[in-house]
Amino acid sequence: MRTLPPDPDRPDATPEGAVGGKVWFHTFGCQMNVYDTGKMRAQLAADGFEDAQFPEEADLILLNTCSIREKAVAKMDSALGHYRALKRDKPLVLGVAGCVAQQEGDALLRRWPELDLVFGPDGVPHVRSLVQRARTGQRVLDVDFLDLETYPFVAEVDPQATGVGAFVTIQKGCDNKCTFCIVPTTRGAEASRPSAEIVEEVRALADRGVVEITLIGQNVNSYGLKVPGEKRFAELLYAVAEVPGVRRIRYTTSHPRDMGDDVVQAYRDLPQLASHLHLPVQSGSNAVLRRMKRFYTRERYLEVVAALKAARPDLTLTTDVIVGFPGETEADFEQTMALLDEVGFVGSFSFAYSPRPGTPALRLGDPVPAEVASARLTRFQDAQRARSLAWTRSHEGTELDVLVEGPSRHDEGVIAARSSTGLMVNFPGDEALTGREVRVRVTRGFTHSARGEALHDREEGAGG
Ligand code: SAH
Ligand code: SF4
Ligand code: F3S
Repeated sequence: MRTLPPDPDRPDATPEGAVGGKVWFHTFGCQMNVYDTGKMRAQLAADGFEDAQFPEEADLILLNTCSIREKAVAKMDSALGHYRALKRDKPLVLGVAGCVAQQEGDALLRRWPELDLVFGPDGVPHVRSLVQRARTGQRVLDVDFLDLETYPFVAEVDPQATGVGAFVTIQKGCDNKCTFCIVPTTRGAEASRPSAEIVEEVRALADRGVVEITLIGQNVNSYGLKVPGEKRFAELLYAVAEVPGVRRIRYTTSHPRDMGDDVVQAYRDLPQLASHLHLPVQSGSNAVLRRMKRFYTRERYLEVVAALKAARPDLTLTTDVIVGFPGETEADFEQTMALLDEVGFVGSFSFAYSPRPGTPALRLGDPVPAEVASARLTRFQDAQRARSLAWTRSHEGTELDVLVEGPSRHDEGVIAARSSTGLMVNFPGDEALTGREVRVRVTRGFTHSARGEALHDREEGAGG
């Protein structure tokens, strides 16, 4: 950690020794960041920090940022522009954590003179001391990567992780070098969290009533491979399934190259494993996959999907797609369009390629004009929307078991629930059913969800 000398002209930090206060978190990006924010909340609670209701009452504002595409960074800048104005009215520590912090480091402090604190993902385990230093009026920068062998995965559980589902991290960083991707730069090399710690956290969450666990990492299939004696990812799935109270297990993100037969077998053995998998393909063209350094082919991807579906016939797949990657021809793009139909993805996240600082793809040349990429993106998204709608509609009139996640955000008296295959079903019902499995009849499918009616509570055999 580096602390810059205190600046007597900066009246903005709280006085030395001040303890606790209100903290406002603003989280951007992926599940990793959501989880890391929870871990910061848990640690700062030990110093007397509690969540502010709104940013204006905060003594500490922490932005947990994402750098995956240029747009994500722009979002951070616009949020910072808003928060810095709050410093005029009261003492406030303003910090940026996460992937942009790691990527920009010093430059971020220079770009934003109002910032007190900048630290990357590896600063999360030390957030208490980082905040304490910043509170003494120093500008604090910490973008050092921690030792992988002794990586201090945070044990404290997010006090807000009390819902139906919760994330549990199983690894940090990424050892792949997909040529478009900034994550290896921002999160560093991969380290697997000891399986005993993972199971312990799952147990702690299950004790609080969490029933659905999502294991997270950038490449979960490579879990444990570099640690002698550690469980492999498939073995970890079996261990998590044994924890009493865990009814559903999901995981993300999976890399198609590393999907092993043992994980496929787990789909036969473990009813807790959800019948939905997010398996990012990025492109349907082998030429593009090669330039992306994904190390699988379209054929191999389809083989993996076929093996998974043989093991779990009702498995649904979602994916990530990048269009307009350097050198992508119309024919390459058509291959991606064709794959959408071939696999029958029920949903996807698709993006126009965004060049990221320091990534190998910058050297590829042969850029796709922005308007071409954007037209391809629209075409892909239109086709995906039609597919997703066809899928939700295919459920109309059928019965389905769903796990109730809580009240619908839009309609009073309506609750939202999800099937193992990932279909979100909203239906009139009592909030008290949260966390229970209910049988519903689907009445109408929309693009991203369906409407239904409760038949009965699976556990009570009545009511609903
Ligand atoms: N570890 C995950 C993905 C993490 S990033 C994996 O390997 O699949 C999430 C998604 O963002 C990626 O799957 C990719 O589709 C997209 N993405 C990453 N870098 C990008 C870039 N430079 N431009 C556009 N999309 C990008
Ligand atoms: Fe990025 Fe590839 Fe690692 Fe995913 S696997 S985080 S896309 S480098
Ligand atoms: Fe974004 Fe970092 Fe996640 S770049 S997608 S927050 S790993």
